[in-house]
Amino acid sequence: MNSMHSSNGRVRILVPFEIRSRFREDVATGLSRPQKSIAPKYFYDHAGSLLFEQICQLPEYYLTRTETTILTEHAADIIEAVGECTIVELGSGSSVKTRLLLTECQRSGYQLRYVPIDISESMLRETAANLVADYPLLQIEALATDYENGLAALPPAQRRLVLFLGSNLGNFTASEQDQLFSSLAASLQPGDYFLLGLDLRKSATILEPAYNDAAGVTAAFNRNLLQRINRELGADFDLAAFAHLAFYNQKLGQIEMHLQSTGTQEVAIADLDLRVPFQVGETIHTEISRKFDAAETRAHLQPYGFQHRARWTDAHGWFLVSLFQFIGVTNGQA
Ligand code: AVJ
Repeated sequence: MNSMHSSNGRVRILVPFEIRSRFREDVATGLSRPQKSIAPKYFYDHAGSLLFEQICQLPEYYLTRTETTILTEHAADIIEAVGECTIVELGSGSSVKTRLLLTECQRSGYQLRYVPIDISESMLRETAANLVADYPLLQIEALATDYENGLAALPPAQRRLVLFLGSNLGNFTASEQDQLFSSLAASLQPGDYFLLGLDLRKSATILEPAYNDAAGVTAAFNRNLLQRINRELGADFDLAAFAHLAFYNQKLGQIEMHLQSTGTQEVAIADLDLRVPFQVGETIHTEISRKFDAAETRAHLQPYGFQHRARWTDAHGWFLVSLFQFIGVTNGQA
């Protein structure tokens, strides 16, 4: 169901898909599987989005800081390569890094058009209001939904620059990644650009602390999912009875995050009419965060019509920002 809201002349927020009903179904099926799981996109209710913003500031969480350094140094190069464009962003959150590119567009005298896509409608509203206050010529057409539904609803534009930053791609399994690249290709026009920020493979001694911070913010972010189920679906999860678990799976090159039941227990989810039993040590798998190899990802994108144009990294080679141009399908695979 589509609904349109207009908070002022320069911000339009479109809610193209009712995510709430999908949350119910996904929780019910995810908690009924042998390996219980919930998709990471459900972390981001308003509280979860704020906790994620806190994660981005943690000393152990090098990702945001590192990518910000790269974008600060190279925003001018990126906008010079792309030219005047509508900036589309998958998982825009607080849009802090996007400001670097918007400022560069403003300096170049370009029209400022921004299409943020984020699953948290409240976060989108707040961010959009802050942005239009700071950029007097900025027009925002926001999409409050997940990536797939957002891409399907992209407004027409002359030339787009699609941002997929923060290693957000890491949440996707290899097959989900293919599906996303295919949807992206289907929603773009030849000539559009794609800017992808990826966390690269590195030592577990650097990776694991980033997901096990001393202040416990990541643990709170993980447990907020249970709180959200309590709040929105009338469940009685005891948050203290689930431990935060995050470790690097070297073989698959990914961080895996779980919530682990500290005892035998049964949780009731009133709105789903469901009772969920847990054994001691049993987990709910809540997230994967894949770590990337630059050449491998370029090779995965190529058949979908994305040509590599440029890339920028940091002094340690920890994080990579790559620019691709969509040239259309080359071999019929996408
Ligand atoms: C937003 C998916 C990039 O995987 O690093 C941070 C989410 N989870 N700490 C990541 C996250 C735990 C983050 N991404």
